[in-house]
Amino acid sequence: MNCIVLGVTGGIAAYKAVDLARQLVLRGFEVKTIMTEHATRLIGPATFRAITGNPVARSMFADEGEPMQHISLAREADLIIVAPATANIIAKMANGLADDLLSTMLLATRAPIMVAPAMNLEMWRHAATRANLEVLRTRGVRIVGPESGFLACGEEGEGRMTEPDLILEAALDILGITASMEGRTVLVTAGGTREPIDPVRYIGNRSSGKMGYALAAAARRMGARVILVSGPTYLQAPQGVEVIAVETAEEMWREVMAREEDCDVVIMAAAVADFSPQARKSEKIKKDGREGLTLECRPTRDILRDLGQKNRPERVLVGFAAETGKPVENAVHKLHAKGADMIVANDVSTLGSGFDSDFNKATMVYGDGRVIDLDLMPKIELAARIWDAVIALLEAGETR
Ligand SMILES: Cc1cc2nc3c(=O)[nH]c(=O)nc-3n(C[C@H](O)[C@H](O)[C@H](O)COP(=O)(O)O)c2cc1C
Repeated sequence: MNCIVLGVTGGIAAYKAVDLARQLVLRGFEVKTIMTEHATRLIGPATFRAITGNPVARSMFADEGEPMQHISLAREADLIIVAPATANIIAKMANGLADDLLSTMLLATRAPIMVAPAMNLEMWRHAATRANLEVLRTRGVRIVGPESGFLACGEEGEGRMTEPDLILEAALDILGITASMEGRTVLVTAGGTREPIDPVRYIGNRSSGKMGYALAAAARRMGARVILVSGPTYLQAPQGVEVIAVETAEEMWREVMAREEDCDVVIMAAAVADFSPQARKSEKIKKDGREGLTLECRPTRDILRDLGQKNRPERVLVGFAAETGKPVENAVHKLHAKGADMIVANDVSTLGSGFDSDFNKATMVYGDGRVIDLDLMPKIELAARIWDAVIALLEAGETR
């Protein structure tokens, strides 16, 4: 669940769609805009492009890029929002017309659709519009608004597009993001660390950062302020998230400790090196004349344990344990040794799960002894499950 396709049609409220796009982007959604020809007469595509960071799709026969955008966008979308929705697009949708990119894409999709009508009072009251809306409603299209008020045409009455924050709320509801983390600050670590051996080599690990990034994006969608302390990865940072890039375990320790006090939740999803070379050589270690190479290593600082020692009842501390055998036993031990509230254990030897995979099979081990075994699922879904568990722990902590 990632991509929202925003259809903008030729209503005066098209300017409000800019704010909607911004709010969606700030919640961590990937937003792809389709504008009708008439919409581009009212507002420039460059504005949507700048806000969403994505090109604006306008034509079925684009000269550049994807040749079948009506299909690719229809498939990519997890939700389609048409805002503002003119009387025209509502009529086209009700009758299955497909004479431009937006209407064709709407016919080609299986994603949920939401429309936010906006029009002149008489257009809104017209029997044709009423009948068309009824058709859409019975097909499961979610209709948000319109509201009453002063209309651009000078009349007063029903026809104003619902404000973007309420459209966002409805979108979150459709996507099943009902829990709110508004007002909470969370810190998530992600990726693997790199411990330098010499200027060109390091000790690293196979962590991709996908789990931590999925957790950060999910928390942002629920409205939390999110700090993501990340080791090197090739992943794109989720929108609206404060990213602190680090390389070594020591740097990660420093950046986490500098911020942990302000956080309601800390989730350590990073794979932090347990050992680091004793001393980084200032020059590249040469192969010539060597029979072998022995590295002298020292243990790194234990971020989870140091956090556990400072944990507060109203704060939730979650660790991850990547194991290659007996994950639950190891997680129970880790939980008590580090003072965490929950450990998410995963057996990285499971086929199709763990490092660099988009899937994970995990077990949630709680401080109160509960052990919840989860099925193999996409990391994005697992992230949502973990946040549900964390929110329950936060609420329990607040009533303690
Ligand atoms: C300045 C202006 C404002 C308009 N506002 C609306 C509107 O709010 N709602 C609406 O249904 N049509 C509105 N229209 C008419 C539509 O642009 C027109 O019906 C057009 O065919 C819609 O095409 P589209 O649905 O492909 O964007 C407006 C037209 C103009 C010139």
